[in-house]
Amino acid sequence: MADIKTVGVLGCGLMGSGIAQVAAQADYQTIVREVSDELNAKGKARITKSLDKAVEKGKLDQAARDATLGRLSFTTKITDLKGCDIVIEAVTEDLEVKNTLWRELDGLCGADTIFASNTSSLTIAAMAAATKRADRFVGLHFFNPVPLMKLVEVVRTVTTSAATFDRAMAFASSLGKAPIAAKDSSGFIVNLLLVPYLLDAIRALEQNVGSVPDIDKGMVLGTGYPMGPFTLLDFVGLDTTYKIAEIMFDEYREKRYAPPPLLKRMVLAGMYGKKSGKGFYDYSTTPPSVTELGL
Ligand code: 3HC
Repeated sequence: MADIKTVGVLGCGLMGSGIAQVAAQADYQTIVREVSDELNAKGKARITKSLDKAVEKGKLDQAARDATLGRLSFTTKITDLKGCDIVIEAVTEDLEVKNTLWRELDGLCGADTIFASNTSSLTIAAMAAATKRADRFVGLHFFNPVPLMKLVEVVRTVTTSAATFDRAMAFASSLGKAPIAAKDSSGFIVNLLLVPYLLDAIRALEQNVGSVPDIDKGMVLGTGYPMGPFTLLDFVGLDTTYKIAEIMFDEYREKRYAPPPLLKRMVLAGMYGKKSGKGFYDYSTTPPSVTELGL
């Protein structure tokens, strides 16, 4: 895109690293900011692994892999993001944590810089209002795994200008993604439909409708989903799903968004899914085995 040259990414976890990778792959100079050198190193390793996999699968050549890594830099200083034309935030789903970063960046970045949040369920308006650039604020919601999933929801809140929204749509397209326009209501389009489905699968398990592998198999073979709901829950993260459900329940006050008791208990027990090694499946075995939940 002509007017966007440098991309800033706040956070280099599962989503941030994927976003940084696709930005750098699309020729943008990309600066990633994490809170520690350790987290930057972890994020860089994740990106390198994903690029290596793309090379191995024949999706990327070695020179493009090297060039992508060459366009990426990592910092712990937020001031290093002052020259970015767009900053995409992918830090923890905590409004105050996000707004502290936005307030600081607002005083550093140029007037044309777009601020974009990758939040799954928080209100874009609540972040835009923390800055003096509410008209240049959008949601850019990517899907996990970011390098493979084509979709980006471009979220326009009540204060977003038409020009900013158009720039954000064009930017998402320039990443090789397929953008769709969504309104700033909790869950946007995809999570509005996906989250109740995932929670219903847990409720079905609580009611002993079927076993974890049978419910997964049912949805894979019966409806053509690439992953069953429990595999997907483990993949997205039970902690993340719990947080999203709480935020959506708070917004809509509807039972369909309420986290089921089993989900809460698994999160309390540290069963976050694949990232912690155990969720509905136990990843310490190959292939993963079904976790005994005493149901
Ligand atoms: N880079 C580039 N390409 C890669 C790659 C990489 N690192 N790794 C794999 N690929 C390619 C492969 O070559 C293959 O391409 P092909 O179809 O042309 O042959 C394709 O990507 C699929 O790769 P795999 O065969 O290794 O993987 P699977 O077929 O098992 O698919 C999956 C993996 C894409 C993750 C699939 O299981 C899937 O779509 N799952 C559902 C994921 C989903 O629903 N995500 C959304 C979660 S919700 C969310 O994120 C929102 C949040 O707010 C909660």
